[in-house]
Amino acid sequence: MDSFSTLIRTASHEQHVEAETSTFMSDLLGGRLGVQAYARYTEQLWFVYEALESGTEKLASDPVAGAFIRPELFRLRALERDLAHLRGPHWRAGLSALPATRAYADRVRECADTWPAGYVAHHYTRYLGDLSGGQIIRDRAERTWGFEKKGDGVRFYVFEEIPNPAAFKRGYRALLDAVRADDLEKQRVVAECKKAFTLNTAVFRALGEEFPLSA
Ligand code: HEM
Repeated sequence: MDSFSTLIRTASHEQHVEAETSTFMSDLLGGRLGVQAYARYTEQLWFVYEALESGTEKLASDPVAGAFIRPELFRLRALERDLAHLRGPHWRAGLSALPATRAYADRVRECADTWPAGYVAHHYTRYLGDLSGGQIIRDRAERTWGFEKKGDGVRFYVFEEIPNPAAFKRGYRALLDAVRADDLEKQRVVAECKKAFTLNTAVFRALGEEFPLSA
């Protein structure tokens, strides 16, 4: 049987393509959107990472999720620096979650509070993606809107404490493979990972509606 890391990756492959090629992402990567769309997207990420990272103290001692709680992954402070750059010092006052973002963050929080293995599905979907495709988004954002390379505006994509993302991802997959759960529970985690992708795609759809390209 395939390893758990292979299983989870294969199961989400189709939805990965869907997320990558969503209208909003394609427009963003194609340099066709203004910086306000990027700022709005960054703001949505704030809500997701707030949900992912606000319960980590408790999760750190959990037998399943604990090994995944690595401070070098934390993104909330980086997002806050990016938002201060994008929106100015009062960024917090104007922060608002789209309904799709609210639903996503609520589900992450629910898993964090009640189902650590489900939380791992959300953890994987975000952080491993950020370490991979996130680097493509960063490069494009720097070129499109002129942010300083790896500086304010794109700090979310810069993992200062992870000098070798490929090695980190290998270690991460080993952690997934070491998760102690029976097959049924693993299937549930895979299903939650698919749900995480669906929740991401819904946020992209909402952003696409908010920032349509004039034909
Ligand atoms: C335009 C947007 C995106 C691009 C260009 C992109 C690109 C990539 C690339 C190149 C990889 C590396 C695959 C490998 O290591 O062999 C990757 C992995 C990954 N991406 Fe994305 N991605 C994008 C969006 C997303 C989104 C929206 C999510 C989910 C929220 C996501 C989640 C993941 C995950 C979880 C992995 C790790 C797969 C694994 O090795 O297990 N990606 N992505």
